Amino acid sequence: MDTVTTIAAVREQVRSWRAQGHRVAFVPTMGNLHAGHMSLLAAAKSHGQRFVASIFVNPMQFGPNEDYAHYPRTPAQDQRMLAEAGCDLMFMPDVAEIYPNGPEHAARVEVPHLSSILEGKLRPGHFQGVATVVTKLFNIVEPQVAVFGEKDFQQLAVVRRMVTDLCMPVQVVGAPTVREPDGLAMSSRNQYLTPAQRQQAPLLHRSLMEARRRLQAGEAVDQVEQQGVATLAAAGMTPDYFTVRDPRTLEPAAPDARELVVLVAARLGRPRLIDNLRVSR
Ligand code: PAJ
Repeated sequence: MDTVTTIAAVREQVRSWRAQGHRVAFVPTMGNLHAGHMSLLAAAKSHGQRFVASIFVNPMQFGPNEDYAHYPRTPAQDQRMLAEAGCDLMFMPDVAEIYPNGPEHAARVEVPHLSSILEGKLRPGHFQGVATVVTKLFNIVEPQVAVFGEKDFQQLAVVRRMVTDLCMPVQVVGAPTVREPDGLAMSSRNQYLTPAQRQQAPLLHRSLMEARRRLQAGEAVDQVEQQGVATLAAAGMTPDYFTVRDPRTLEPAAPDARELVVLVAARLGRPRLIDNLRVSR
């Protein structure tokens, strides 16, 4: 695996692959890789012949009071994991390479509405930062396929909408959430949890499973939502939302909708966790 830090080096490599007729699949990440990220690379294998992963902690998608400065950075370990997994190219730019004029005044990509509900409401500007950096990375890597995790369900929806609306020539593939044995969705932020919080955290997934059971048993959406909030609050968590939505639009689900997604975000003290579960009924 080659590791490069410049846009020019990525373009040179990817263009030579494409000239040979190889299909290029891309996995964008912020690094501190875990089995969830690695599953995206595994999914990419069935969509291309050459694999590019990026490691870039994107300042534009962090709010002023978020963890940008403290976000875990483990480049040597990431490099080892990607090389072992058969990645061909790791792109690890610095901030000046991606934002030569600084992130504040850079051109931006906005996906209205979808970016301002749910996570977007709690993290203003977050999805604009994500849409902008993903656009830049797509323009740099020029992949035919890009793989994103369903763990960040709204992010995947924002990226899909952006790609459709802006006619980007990239196939977006969603990959299932990878979980710890106790159900907790893997996340770089799980390491912020104290041992006591880590014990509590699987309740998020259990509450989603319970919501799925209730929805499939015919219980009304608003009752299921109230129950979810109550379960988390009773355990001492602070739920930001526990909501049943249309998986495509993320609008509130119609009472008779057959395909649903339950989305949850909750704080356990300072750390904040998100998760979701698809429901067919
Ligand atoms: P990051 O949080 O590093 O996640 C990179 C990719 O890994 C995302 O597509 C995310 O959904 C996926 N992922 C994370 N945890 C996962 C899990 N447990 N199972 C499956 N997939 C998982 O998401 C970002 O970075 C950034 O916003 C990015 C898209 C790179 C733009 O900066």
